Amino acid sequence: MTDKPRVWISRPTFPGIIARLEPHFEVTAEAEERKFSSSELAAKLAGQDAAIVGLKDRIGPAEIGQATRLRIVANLGVGYDNLDLDALSAAGIAASNTADVLNESVADYAWALMLGAARRMNAAERWLRAGHWHATEFRQWLGTDVRGHTLGILGMGRIGQAIARRAVGFGMPVIYHNRSPLPEADERACDARYVDKSQLLRESDFLILVLPLTPQTRHAIGAPELAQMKPTAMLVNVARGGIVDDAALATALREKRLAGAALDVFEREPAVHPGLLELDNVVLSPHIASASQETRRAMTALAVDNVLALFGHGPHAGRPPTILNPNVLA
Ligand code: GLV
Repeated sequence: MTDKPRVWISRPTFPGIIARLEPHFEVTAEAEERKFSSSELAAKLAGQDAAIVGLKDRIGPAEIGQATRLRIVANLGVGYDNLDLDALSAAGIAASNTADVLNESVADYAWALMLGAARRMNAAERWLRAGHWHATEFRQWLGTDVRGHTLGILGMGRIGQAIARRAVGFGMPVIYHNRSPLPEADERACDARYVDKSQLLRESDFLILVLPLTPQTRHAIGAPELAQMKPTAMLVNVARGGIVDDAALATALREKRLAGAALDVFEREPAVHPGLLELDNVVLSPHIASASQETRRAMTALAVDNVLALFGHGPHAGRPPTILNPNVLA
């Protein structure tokens, strides 16, 4: 019999991570990636003192109903729309995310998607692999330069700001919309100008979405918003599926009312709207904006730091570094 608290990790993880937990916890880590049903999650969480979960694990009242010992749910992601924070707080359970450690990787990836869409890289590669490259035609595969075009950013948190800072090197003026304008010093640091949402939609040549999914931001980009965008514009989503109405986007792209899109996230992941799969003017990617070796390890290490800290261990003992509901500590 062990009297160590128990931690459950809902997905396969890096070996060193388990080694950091083992001195303090009895660790159960899933060996395979899979999506658990609500009742499976409830059964997995029952009897655990801590859980490290992924974005596919939706945790609310039904899932924590039998988890009488649970003290923390550490989310492997900066977004936490999969967690019902009110329900967790009401049950006295701490929740944490992986804020900040992924900012630069996600910003890099947003640029990769944007440049890929602008220069038609994926479509050209599909064409090459299909054996169509028999001669080099000077006017074939013409994309568009980003230089001199306006970069719009919807949601100007730390990832949005990291995206904006990269624009200097690409010669793109930056406009943004956010719930509130940035403090002047931050605005200056990323050389970005605050505009209202409608101006952002009308003026952006490339529009990158980096806002969290909440009931207020669901379908923040739907048919009416797409209709305000330039037909030459391209939309990039590295935020969350559900912020964009995928059906409306597929229609706008098919009807050439929007020139292109690059999407890392989808409304019904891992399913992708069939209308998007048919199109050549959209770059599709399987929710991997933070998936560099370094960053996925850093995210996991941060989730572990949060768990250790709540149980009084490690450099942050007593104060999980990225706790979302610090009120539960009181
Ligand atoms: C990824 O989507 C995250 O929220 O970290």
